Amino acid sequence: AQIYRRGVFGYRPAVPVSPDVLETKAYAAMSPTARSYIHTGAGRGDTMSANRDAFDQWRIVPRMMRDTQQRDQSIELFGRRLDSPFLTAPIGVSEMAHPDGDLALARGARAAGVPVIISTQASQPMEDICAELGDQERWYQLYWSKDDELVESLVRRAERAGCTALVVTLDTTLLGWRVEDLDLAWLPFARGMGIAQYTSDPVFQRLVQERVANPTNETDDQPRPRPGAVRSLAKLSRTYPGSTLDNLRSPEPRAAVETFLDVFSRLDLTWERLAWLRERTSLPILVKGIQHPDDAELALEHGVDGIVVSNHGGRQVDGAIGSLAALPGVVDVVAGRVPVLFDSGIRCAADAFKALALGATAVCIGRPWVWGLALGGADGVQQVLETYRAELDLQMNLTGVTSIGEITPETIVPA
Ligand code: FNR
Repeated sequence: AQIYRRGVFGYRPAVPVSPDVLETKAYAAMSPTARSYIHTGAGRGDTMSANRDAFDQWRIVPRMMRDTQQRDQSIELFGRRLDSPFLTAPIGVSEMAHPDGDLALARGARAAGVPVIISTQASQPMEDICAELGDQERWYQLYWSKDDELVESLVRRAERAGCTALVVTLDTTLLGWRVEDLDLAWLPFARGMGIAQYTSDPVFQRLVQERVANPTNETDDQPRPRPGAVRSLAKLSRTYPGSTLDNLRSPEPRAAVETFLDVFSRLDLTWERLAWLRERTSLPILVKGIQHPDDAELALEHGVDGIVVSNHGGRQVDGAIGSLAALPGVVDVVAGRVPVLFDSGIRCAADAFKALALGATAVCIGRPWVWGLALGGADGVQQVLETYRAELDLQMNLTGVTSIGEITPETIVPA
């Protein structure tokens, strides 16, 4: 109502309110590498399409004549009251979309009152992001590295920086088959972007120095970069301060990128290993990337405090089920024992409503915050997040529910 009212007096939104227009304009404003990195799904994009199709399988049935003057969209999670059922999903390398990256995310999310899940591949060290967040609730998303000491160091830093939960992403032991990124030869990492969390870590710094002292032959074995690639890197490095051709020229940044590539993928993880993490932190541990009900059961057996149903925005397994299609089975098995969060494909409040109706406790906004960031920096992020909250409030009003708890399975029907 505020937006309509302000509009009468000439107010214009900072970024498009329509998610489709926002998406189109944001990608049009990005460099080809940024567009590819943010937009791409795995393979031919089937899973990304399935994410959207899954929402089309459900329809909301509005109820009339219910007093909706007092509405409350707050929820409780891990003993804390959150203003709304929205969090921002962890998205790495946000500096591709805007040079201020996660600092702008933090400013925007704080202004909108939305908690942030800080990515292990965030563009700035978590301490700086948390300083921008002030009192705003934040969690830390962990990619479980090959180096246990590094994992422990990241967890310790997250605790010290005031993160109140750990989200362990399980679905990215390796990066998915992202064809557009492959065609562009994965320039973001060639330029050392998205490793600020590591390069600011004392354990990682030690690993890099060890590599500089004992260089492997890897670097020499690699073909020299094509002249075209060097030219475009030079151009891009002017666009994004902080990333420079040094990655190709000086031993230290190059060693940092190589160390990152070495420690990132961890294929030997099994459920038993969660006990190791459990012993090292008292923060609630959520696992992100659950799709199968049996995995939800195993996660509970191994003591997790929460589950995030997600397929990483369709970026990992090509041909996988839509994330919302996986939600009911997981909710069934979990049966209220721990919170079940949801992401992958949420583009408007109706999507959030359907996920909540199917049993999600909260939902994470993914790519849309990056689109807002690309077009409007912190203001763009703030507006995108406020839009979700405002639209959900209106949606609740018009469907006759006054609290998140009232968004039950009875509010939707199969399409
Ligand atoms: C991601 N995602 C992700 N997840 C994670 O746990 N750590 C990360 O660093 C990233 N990085 C990342 C980068 C980009 C560009 C995207 C699009 C996604 C996955 C993210 O948290 C979330 O699961 C998806 O974004 C949800 O899908 P939609 O709604 O964005 O399509």
